[in-house]
Amino acid sequence: MKLNDKSALSLMTVLVLSAVLFFCGGQAVGEEYDEDTYGPEAPIIFVKPVKAVDFSHKVHTMGAGLECDSCHDDLFEMEAGVAEQNDDFTMESLYAGKYCGACHDGDMAFASNKRCTACHIGVKGFERLNNEGGSADAGHGGGH
Ligand code: HEC
Ligand code: HEC
Ligand code: HEC
Repeated sequence: MKLNDKSALSLMTVLVLSAVLFFCGGQAVGEEYDEDTYGPEAPIIFVKPVKAVDFSHKVHTMGAGLECDSCHDDLFEMEAGVAEQNDDFTMESLYAGKYCGACHDGDMAFASNKRCTACHIGVKGFERLNNEGGSADAGHGGGH
């Protein structure tokens, strides 16, 4: 079978178009953060009982590959500010394996009695985030 010029041309067009679409699609996956897949992009900042602890969904879902149900709703509600209402939202509870401590036990993730400043961004870090309007980018790097 021999293609005439016109259908050869449209075949080329289709091939080029699909290559372009494929390429762009791949790029989008690499560059765009999808909140449905990975949870809210903006960091969640706890201010009680101490200012301030930084939690990033991105680090845990996109980064560490955790599913939503590893935390929701057994360890945390899907609503910012709920855990902070609890009197037992303390280091003692973390050390006992509650909240963040369910994983941050030195086994599944770094221990809660190590690297304090990975989680605690401190008062200065909190003010910096606030000045930048709590924008999504501001939190990353804050804990390092
Ligand atoms: C490693 C633990 C962890 C994982 C995994 C996780 N979350 Fe969360 N999520 C939290 C914590 C902590 C909070 C804040 C809860 C609180 O303040 O009491 C939260 C809060 C939320 C909120 C409320 C945000 C707001 O501003 O009120 C949504 C929505 C949410 N998560 C969606 C998701 C989705 C969707 C996934 C899976 C793609 C997911 N989470 C995976 C820990 C996690
Ligand atoms: C379901 C398990 C799980 C829970 C719950 C969890 N984490 Fe993590 N976290 C991980 C894993 C896995 C990693 C990546 C491995 C590591 O860094 O040890 C991680 C990494 C981190 C990091 C390191 C980020 C970096 O840049 O290296 C921070 C900070 C952190 N978690 C804070 C928290 C805080 C705060 C909470 C509670 C609000 C929490 N995590 C709850 C599993 C969890
Ligand atoms: C895995 C994350 C994580 C690590 C690591 C961590 N903390 Fe915390 N810390 C929290 C969370 C979450 C809270 C409760 C929320 C808040 O107070 O903002 C908290 C609360 C506290 C509090 C107030 C409540 C209490 O228990 O008295 C102190 C003090 C504290 N942390 C000190 C430390 C010190 C010191 C270290 C290092 C030895 C440390 N934290 C390491 C997450 C962490």
